Amino acid sequence: MADLTPHALRVLRARYFLRDAEGRPVEDAAALFRRVARGVAAAELDYGSRKDAEAWAERFEAAMAGLDFLPNSPTLMNAGTPLGQLSACFVLPIDDAIDAIFQTLHQTALVHQSGGGTGFNFSAVRPEGDRVVRTGGRASGPLSFLRVFDRATEEMRQGGKRRGANMGILDADHPDVEAFADAKRRPGVLRNFNLSVGATDAFLEAVEADADWALVNPRDRREVRRLPARALFRRIAEAAWAGGDPGMVFLSTINRQNPLPGLGPIRATNPCGEVPLLPYESCNLGSLNLARRVRGGEVDWEGLRGLVHLAVRFLDDVIRVNRYPATPFALMAERNRKIGLGVMGWAEMLIRLGLPYDTEAARRLAGEVAAFVRAEAEAASAALARERGAFPNLPYARDPERPRRHATLLSIAPTGTISIIAGTTPSIEPLFAVAYTREGVLGGEALPEVNPLFVRMMEEHGADWRRVVREVAATGTLEDVPGVPEEVRRVFRSALEVSPEDHLKMQAAWQAHVDNAVSKTINLRPEATPEEIERIYLEAWRLGLKGVTVFRYGSKGQQVLELGFHP
Ligand code: CDP
Repeated sequence: MADLTPHALRVLRARYFLRDAEGRPVEDAAALFRRVARGVAAAELDYGSRKDAEAWAERFEAAMAGLDFLPNSPTLMNAGTPLGQLSACFVLPIDDAIDAIFQTLHQTALVHQSGGGTGFNFSAVRPEGDRVVRTGGRASGPLSFLRVFDRATEEMRQGGKRRGANMGILDADHPDVEAFADAKRRPGVLRNFNLSVGATDAFLEAVEADADWALVNPRDRREVRRLPARALFRRIAEAAWAGGDPGMVFLSTINRQNPLPGLGPIRATNPCGEVPLLPYESCNLGSLNLARRVRGGEVDWEGLRGLVHLAVRFLDDVIRVNRYPATPFALMAERNRKIGLGVMGWAEMLIRLGLPYDTEAARRLAGEVAAFVRAEAEAASAALARERGAFPNLPYARDPERPRRHATLLSIAPTGTISIIAGTTPSIEPLFAVAYTREGVLGGEALPEVNPLFVRMMEEHGADWRRVVREVAATGTLEDVPGVPEEVRRVFRSALEVSPEDHLKMQAAWQAHVDNAVSKTINLRPEATPEEIERIYLEAWRLGLKGVTVFRYGSKGQQVLELGFHP
């Protein structure tokens, strides 16, 4: 069992360990990883002997206990328990009918109760004030239903452990899109939702050309109104400047790479954007810890290869043993078998290799690692298809002659909690800062953190990290703090020191090899402008990203990570 940091233990104790009737934790980390490994490897009994299943359980356990690979939180919480819902990501349909919307609300509650997050596209809902033939009344519009879903989420805690996250999407040509862009500008409104505008190439081309843009009623496809595309784009950027929402999802890009075009277009993603999904699809995620794949100053390619194959098998087994919140989810998961293998600890890997995050060399390595993981995951999926059969909806795939077990393989999730458990940097994000305070992770308790790798490197150079950390507290950066050796300074590039363009380029370097999407935050300094956000959104689209989210430091009253550290 690898050593866990104090923060990792606190998070595990607060939310992951099973509890007895009195609410006392009844397991420790080693027992948790054993429970999850056995729960997932139970699937192996369908394909092999009991001895084989036990051998796989041991391998799964070693990978998790070594913090080399971790599945998404619902798997850690629920595997090997009667609840047994293991997926983090779901997308549900929103039709223009009260019955259907409230059926989706019901299913959403079941997903949230079981630990999953949900995404929706509300664009089929007729606009506010539109005609309702049956009652002769006026329609309340997509925003009113968003509020209903938000309210329901607010009242529920996922499996008693965490509140469900949501993604709400409205297409750029919906008549209510301006109100949607502004929807989160008042504090506390829709706080359980991330919002994204669904943008096609046509919209972004209209922005580029400074053309007019038509808003269309989804009920009859009639044009309701025209406005300059740039006016709408500015409104979106100003709202994002004020509070981070809305982001954008690039629907044309997503659909050019839709792995199952025969099943129809994709219009929504999961809450953090890393998995574009059809209605009733779900995805279970897992992440490789790249921080642990550096040996003797080099990438440990052989170790990585073995872990990719193990992780693909693990995630395939998850689909088998998963208990889905409702039948339509089970059917879609069994037919499409989408999985999302990703990474965490990328910034730490770069630091260990001595590569600054915002360099061409770092991006080149990102491409190499991503391409390697992709190729090995494809090999693993093809091998499983030979052993267990291809996914049943293969005939609807873009390339149906290439047998494989899964419609998708890779996805870069935020790893917000599992990276804490693994004690490394989240996802492909740069360090947030060498020292900061983490707010609210355990429901409001502030956790001060100094990057342990920074401490170690400073000590190796005989430098006084305590004094440096106190100075970093004021500014959040190492930039002007004296007493930091140059080799240390150049590799500890924090999120706000990395330029927005370099954030985007890193996201693009990974996205090029990822069949689902990459969840990433483009961090901006407090003085960034709405014009800069417009440029970032356009650049993100041109780089072929599937979505983009910005966060301007200080723009929200309460944020998860605070710069400044008070020892
Ligand atoms: O680290 P962890 O496995 O907890 O999750 P993550 O990688 O930060 O988020 C992965 C996905 O889990 C998100 O995109 C959401 O679909 C879901 N999630 C959620 O529903 N509620 C949360 N509070 C956090 C994540």
